[in-house]
Amino acid sequence: MNQEAKDYKPEDWQRHYEENDIRWDLGQVAPPFVKLWEDGKLPLGKVLIPGCGRGHEAVFLAEKEFDVTAVDFADGAVSYLKNILQERNLAARVLRRDFFSLDDSHNEVYDLMIEQTFFCAISPRQRQDYVAKVARILKPGGMLAGLFYHTGEEGGPPYNTTREDIETHFSKSFQILELDKTLLSAEKRKDKEWLGILKKI
Ligand SMILES: C[S@@+](CC[C@H](N)C(=O)[O-])C[C@H]1O[C@@H](n2cnc3c(N)ncnc32)[C@H](O)[C@@H]1O
Repeated sequence: MNQEAKDYKPEDWQRHYEENDIRWDLGQVAPPFVKLWEDGKLPLGKVLIPGCGRGHEAVFLAEKEFDVTAVDFADGAVSYLKNILQERNLAARVLRRDFFSLDDSHNEVYDLMIEQTFFCAISPRQRQDYVAKVARILKPGGMLAGLFYHTGEEGGPPYNTTREDIETHFSKSFQILELDKTLLSAEKRKDKEWLGILKKI
């Protein structure tokens, strides 16, 4: 990662999985999501996880009986997650698909979307399309719970995300209920991610 402003294509992400160069992968569900679940802040129901990677959040939420749909366009991500789900005898839908090409059958289907190192992975030019897509797939009043990567660096991926970026992009179609740095970030992300709880208006 960190090539100057060169958009990543599916094959670039796939190469990371083939070379086992997945430095973004925490190897576990991000701790702030565990706390949100423990505090009963994640609405139980249908959840979409875009750019799911190896899918630690998908596995965690499937274990907790959420109805999980995980999406990634890299085969290395999807096949890994499918194997883990099978090994653990867990049910979840795993789609090898471009998030931006999800069709109308996903409209207003989801109670929750989990954002984890995906917003920073797409080109900043796609951010408005991302917001429009999330607003379409969530039910009215649905929730986006996200960890947004504040790298503080130029270029990407991962592309820097500031508080202002989140407010500017989301405030027309979402009510921002919480947006703060979290003390619960994994060690390598300490002080470098915004935990946002956003509700579709
Ligand atoms: C930085 S990784 C994060 C993976 C995972 N969320 C995590 O935190 O471990 C970004 C992931 O998004 C996927 N991705 C990037 N753009 C995508 C798109 N338009 N549609 C679906 N997946 C995409 C990549 O294949 C990659 O697995």
